[in-house]
Amino acid sequence: MLETIAKRERDFGTPASTSTDMVQVTIDGTDMQVPAGTSVMRAAAEAGINIPKLCASDNLEAFGSCRLCLVQIEGRRGYPASCTTPVEAGMVIWTETPKLHELRRNVMELYISDHPLDCLTCPANGDCELQDMAGVVGLRNVRYGFEGANHLNDAADESNPYFTYDPSKCIVCSRCVRACDEVQGTFALTITGRGFDSRVTAGQHDTFLGSDCVSCGACVQACPTSTLMEKSVIDMGQAEHSVITTCAYCGVGCAFKAEMKGQEVVRMVPWKDGQANRGHSCVKGRFAWGYATHEDRMLKPMIRSDIADPWREVSWEEALNYAASEIKRIQAEYGRNAVGGITSSRCTNEETYLVQKLVRAAFGTNNVDTCARVCHSPTGYGLKTTLGESAGTQTFDSVMFTDVVIVMGANPSAAHPVFASRLKRRLREGAKLIVIDPREIELVNSPHIKADYHLPVRPGTNTAVLTAIAHVIATEGLIDEAYVAERCEPLAFQQWRDFVSLPENSPEATEAETGVPAADLRGAARLYARPGNSAIYYGLGVTEHSQGSTTVMAIANLAMATGNLGREGVGVNPLRGQNNVQGSCDMGSFPHELPGYRHISDDTVRGQFEKDWGVTLQPEPGLRIPNMFDAALSGSFKALYCQGEDIVQSDPDTQHVAKALSSMECIIVQDIFLNETAKYAHVFLPGSSFLEKDGTFTNAERRVSRVRKVMEPKGGMADWEVTCALSNALGYPMNYSHPSEIMDEIARLTPTFEGVSFKKIDELGGSVQWPCNADAPEGTPTMHVDQFVRGKGKFMITKYVPSDERSTRRFPLLLTTGRILSQYNVGAQTRRTANVLWHGEDLLEMHPQDAEDRGIRSGDMVAIQSRSGETVLRADVTTRVQPGVLYTTFHFPESGANVVTTDSTDWATDCPEYKVTAVQARLVTEPSQWQAKWSRFSDIQMKLLAQRKQGAAAAEPAEPAKPGTPKAPVEPVVAAARVLSPTE
Ligand code: SF4
Ligand code: SF4
Ligand code: SF4
Ligand code: FES
Repeated sequence: MLETIAKRERDFGTPASTSTDMVQVTIDGTDMQVPAGTSVMRAAAEAGINIPKLCASDNLEAFGSCRLCLVQIEGRRGYPASCTTPVEAGMVIWTETPKLHELRRNVMELYISDHPLDCLTCPANGDCELQDMAGVVGLRNVRYGFEGANHLNDAADESNPYFTYDPSKCIVCSRCVRACDEVQGTFALTITGRGFDSRVTAGQHDTFLGSDCVSCGACVQACPTSTLMEKSVIDMGQAEHSVITTCAYCGVGCAFKAEMKGQEVVRMVPWKDGQANRGHSCVKGRFAWGYATHEDRMLKPMIRSDIADPWREVSWEEALNYAASEIKRIQAEYGRNAVGGITSSRCTNEETYLVQKLVRAAFGTNNVDTCARVCHSPTGYGLKTTLGESAGTQTFDSVMFTDVVIVMGANPSAAHPVFASRLKRRLREGAKLIVIDPREIELVNSPHIKADYHLPVRPGTNTAVLTAIAHVIATEGLIDEAYVAERCEPLAFQQWRDFVSLPENSPEATEAETGVPAADLRGAARLYARPGNSAIYYGLGVTEHSQGSTTVMAIANLAMATGNLGREGVGVNPLRGQNNVQGSCDMGSFPHELPGYRHISDDTVRGQFEKDWGVTLQPEPGLRIPNMFDAALSGSFKALYCQGEDIVQSDPDTQHVAKALSSMECIIVQDIFLNETAKYAHVFLPGSSFLEKDGTFTNAERRVSRVRKVMEPKGGMADWEVTCALSNALGYPMNYSHPSEIMDEIARLTPTFEGVSFKKIDELGGSVQWPCNADAPEGTPTMHVDQFVRGKGKFMITKYVPSDERSTRRFPLLLTTGRILSQYNVGAQTRRTANVLWHGEDLLEMHPQDAEDRGIRSGDMVAIQSRSGETVLRADVTTRVQPGVLYTTFHFPESGANVVTTDSTDWATDCPEYKVTAVQARLVTEPSQWQAKWSRFSDIQMKLLAQRKQGAAAAEPAEPAKPGTPKAPVEPVVAAARVLSPTE
């Protein structure tokens, strides 16, 4: 049963051996066979014999420092440590003898003689390995007294907002240091001093906050005492029960044990059996969950007829009826297709499925889209075209079998940190690394990792770089001919081969355009194509371009040409940004596709849905998000239901988006906070945080993982219930009693999900990778094993077409955007946590040469202006970016990064070209006009919200007025809202 898990999961002491050779040993009189290389400690644990231990843990290499795990081995002198002693054939081992008991008690006595005797008031009381082991070895008293030199008064380091380091309790077991090195790969901790003076030190005698520590929490989890301890546990005490669920931040999809006291989270502990994260986590999932109970949470439904009006808190029933009546009114007035909806990549599969069903069946239109439009839609198009399936091909574990890794347009250490830790581990084992990125991302040069090649591609020229790599592979005889002949369409391959072999595609011919030195590119191509396993991991730096889909196809071409698809250790792996971006695409959120990526115009497929849903569906695709905005501005699109997505902050060309929203008559926002989009809304429906949800998320590996409710929805209704209620109010019945029934419907209608159910997921240990059906009843870890999903793989011609966004005399610099570890997407969640300590504002990275040309120094205010707009950010002068390139993040609304990004989009999918914006930069002394307007508009909207809080809504008419109805005199603040919407 996964719902409640024992407080501490079983620990076998040392990692499992991967050997297939078996060795026979006898432990405490029991004969057993274990793989060669297994430690005596682990062999015993597998026989159910727990040898006392302190410095060992099965996620760390054995260290042998605490001397508590001594055993007796027949024929051997002394008492070896069982954690560092591997089994040998015929070994006869004794783990419990009077002598061992005495030795262990003596060791424990020394530890306790320099340890505070405050167990009863210690926050770890009842969850402390030192305390447990003292009991196990039978220590009753300490003979040495406590008067001598000790560490009992050492000062604690409280600098990290989430955990404390209290050296008075440290037993110097080094588990924290090893966890930071081996599990996280940050190498932030060392043991300084010797003997009695040994102590854990973060960085160069820094505090934890001042060191390189990234607050992943691996050391806290590893610590067998309360030396490293979550502040939430210190404040709240030990948890009473726990629930396994899935992180709602990034596309890694880490499993967590939410440890609870009643309805309150005490701490989130990465779940050891989580198949995506294997017991690891990052600062967001582990610590940044406080937003869920933040005072800014919106818990009451609200309505207003105009964005210049104060909000009026109403019952759920009134809000939903009002929303339904507005949709009906607008459809009656402007036509069925004047309305639409946007699904959320943060919500569950079940919730997302329901929203697209609501739009198609209850609204009666295909005007549904998802935020994947603005991130990975080119992945869907590119991989479907070449391989036949719109998803990544591997598990995260697969990287442990990779010999050469390309990371392109992705910064896993910041955006997919738990995968980055796994990748780094593999790189430390000797795998080679090629980074293709305009910036020197952390992986290029970090502790114990150095990229073999960093190709600093000029923004916008990805396709040319990959085609040049293909040129080298094709012209230097590096193609896996047998693989291609067996698995790919011959004509398309030949055309591709001829195309990439053209001299104009050579590294030398493209070097000036791409900025990548030809020799490096040739070296990287040879490395990727060499025999063995090569894998490509890529991110939004590939997709968010005018040639995003072409670049994805170029990636698939490379993998096919070198035979790197269809087994462990290889593949093409899109690193998905948001927790359920894969799922939102799978669930039919795109206007042209029903769940399972089947085109809406396919009569057979559409007929299945029509029969099941009892409606007639339109056979034509609906509007994509950018088309919705354009249609709103031209007057034909009037209402939008937007669940869990902040399009005003996240979509490009903010002023264009705001103008489009301002021109609609009914915007329904469902969210946990009054986000930037909600400032333009007429109906606000409170959303639920992931802690309040039941359902599933699908991560970047196609892994469908259970999300389990740990507390009741704070607004009173779960998100899926809200969608059902809105549908019912519209007259299309939607009745489910539990999200599992929604998944059953998804499975019934979607071949790749045919075998998925909540029960199946539980049976398989918490997750399953689709496709899961009769052919693959336990899911599909690796795609395209014997053949591609489309049959024969299809090579595509990837002609490089320069982006319209090019540096010019007016806009000589190229701006590219990305994320940072401590913040997430639009920051609505992480900005409401202590994560702001690491990143409290978006900065503009600029090369020293460009900075000097403009008289700019770090910390100066710099205006960046594009053809879309202007914003002002503080400069960070750094060589992480190349000359001519600027970089910023987009986590804070006031930064206005997307005021500057343009309407340039991917040719195939309309995914915005966030990664290339031609700009000018200059030193200024004040915010931009847009920022000043945004600030005033936001203030007004907050005041309108506060007026609701102060009961001013009582002055509102009982029934909301129809748009256009003359209004009573309004307060100045209200009048100002009408004119200050920052749309121009
Ligand atoms: S929190 Fe993570 S990064 Fe920081 S010291 Fe601990 S293990 Fe290292
Ligand atoms: S802080 Fe904890 S894990 Fe680190 S050395 Fe001290 S007791 Fe061991
Ligand atoms: S944010 Fe991503 S890497 Fe971090 S804990 Fe959540 S799922 Fe894991
Ligand atoms: S557990 Fe073996 S020496 Fe510490």
